[in-house]
Amino acid sequence: MKIRLAKGKWDSIECDALIVPLFEDEKKNEGEFTTALDEKLGGLLSELKSTEEWTSKAGQISVIYRPSELRTGRLILLGAGKRKSYDAQAIRTLIMQAVRRVKSYNLKRVAVYYRRSQVETAQAAQAVVEGVVMATYSGDDYKTEDKSKNFIEEILFVTELDQGQAQVEEAMKRGEIVAQATNLARRLVNEPGNRINPSGLAQTAAEIAEKFGLEIEVLGEPEMEEKQMGAILAVARGSDEPARFIVLRHFGAPEGEAPPIVLVGKGVTFDSGGLSLKSPKSMEQMKSDKAGACVVLAAMQAIAELQVKKNIVGLIPAVENLPSGRAQRPGDVVRSMSGKTIEVMNTDAEGRLILADALCYGRQLQPEYMVDIATLTGACVIALGHLRAGLFSNNEEVCQKLLQASERSGEKFWRLPLDEDYRRAIKSQIADIKNVGGRWGGAITAAKFLEEFVGDVPWCHLDIAGVGLFKEGQELKGPTGFGVRTLVEMVSS
Ligand code: BES
Ligand code: ZN
Ligand code: ZN
Repeated sequence: MKIRLAKGKWDSIECDALIVPLFEDEKKNEGEFTTALDEKLGGLLSELKSTEEWTSKAGQISVIYRPSELRTGRLILLGAGKRKSYDAQAIRTLIMQAVRRVKSYNLKRVAVYYRRSQVETAQAAQAVVEGVVMATYSGDDYKTEDKSKNFIEEILFVTELDQGQAQVEEAMKRGEIVAQATNLARRLVNEPGNRINPSGLAQTAAEIAEKFGLEIEVLGEPEMEEKQMGAILAVARGSDEPARFIVLRHFGAPEGEAPPIVLVGKGVTFDSGGLSLKSPKSMEQMKSDKAGACVVLAAMQAIAELQVKKNIVGLIPAVENLPSGRAQRPGDVVRSMSGKTIEVMNTDAEGRLILADALCYGRQLQPEYMVDIATLTGACVIALGHLRAGLFSNNEEVCQKLLQASERSGEKFWRLPLDEDYRRAIKSQIADIKNVGGRWGGAITAAKFLEEFVGDVPWCHLDIAGVGLFKEGQELKGPTGFGVRTLVEMVSS
């Protein structure tokens, strides 16, 4: 896909579709644009507005076929809602919706007209590109018929520039890289359990590492035994598929030896719950329990492509959580890599077990800070629904860093507490700690469990259990890739 900045006037752009946002509250001095547009359309716009069929409310779309005074095959009027809510995230979402509506029309060249707003041009350009690229992934990879088609070959961002061209072009490139990475995460999360197991995930990671110039190391079970990663190995026991521990390294720090930033992603390629078996209904989406891993992998790809000037390590503990005659049992005690013993009360709380060893491994790298991302708890979905991910942190500075990155990425988080008193819930009678904390505050007690393994390393834990999949009525379908954009923003700021 070619992505280009087109300087010049919206009415002379040659393309298959021109997307033009219209606000509910067009200001007087902007009347100019709508007046000109109305003239070009021979009064159609005024007429449309007078019918009440057109209100410009966010997401409304009307397609005008081959307007004779313009040089586009189709003019797509896009309701952009109120001015004040037209931020970068709104741009991204609206463009995603518009492109999704028309992408099967055999459009090769799609132009988006940038309406001046409170969002600066470069940021808007990035959001537009992200929106278009994200709209091109449909999630129907395994359909043999009725596969949604996508013809878009070129995206034009049309603007009468007010900022340096180079800056806008750089933002567009960045948008493309980050959105392609997001789509990669979405595609991988969509891969069913019979198509991607831990070795498959490691294989995919190796291909990406090769292609984008990351260093990769994959530990098999013998190496993990050697490192005494007892918690990961305990989860993996129930499956015939052996565990993998994937280490990806990006060396970007100018000073060479600088302490790395460590990103950790939960890679459960399928979560049946193990012997604490899930119900059929709650098992249906559990191929997506590797979303954290896919996000870290995709973020590492983007980090390499953007040549981020930091040393960054991506860690992915990959396992399949199944019941069998060899599976760990509720009540088992395992010894984690850190030396801490864990009483496994519930084998369905497997994410925190594999993360415990991964965080311990990460801590030994003496990082600047660590961020883990995981579809960790149903309790987080109960607490925050599908709009915001849970954020936990032991450090104000990295927490703020993450929240600032999230402002720019448009992915929303909500900080939840880590008070010391919550720790009581995971005390074990016979071991150092147990892996469940009872019925209440489940997202928090899971985070308290992880905190045990990070020591004094500045750390954020992101619980994405609720935001991993688009829900009915949202702008896209299937996996969201939630987290890729925030992580990339965070490490490159
Ligand atoms: N993978 C699940 C969490 C999850 C739930 C992700 C719903 C996405 C949607 C995790 O491994 C799990 O099963 N957690 C248990 C923990 C409990 C046993 C303490 C849960 O949340 O029910
Ligand atoms: Zn589970
Ligand atoms: Zn899980």
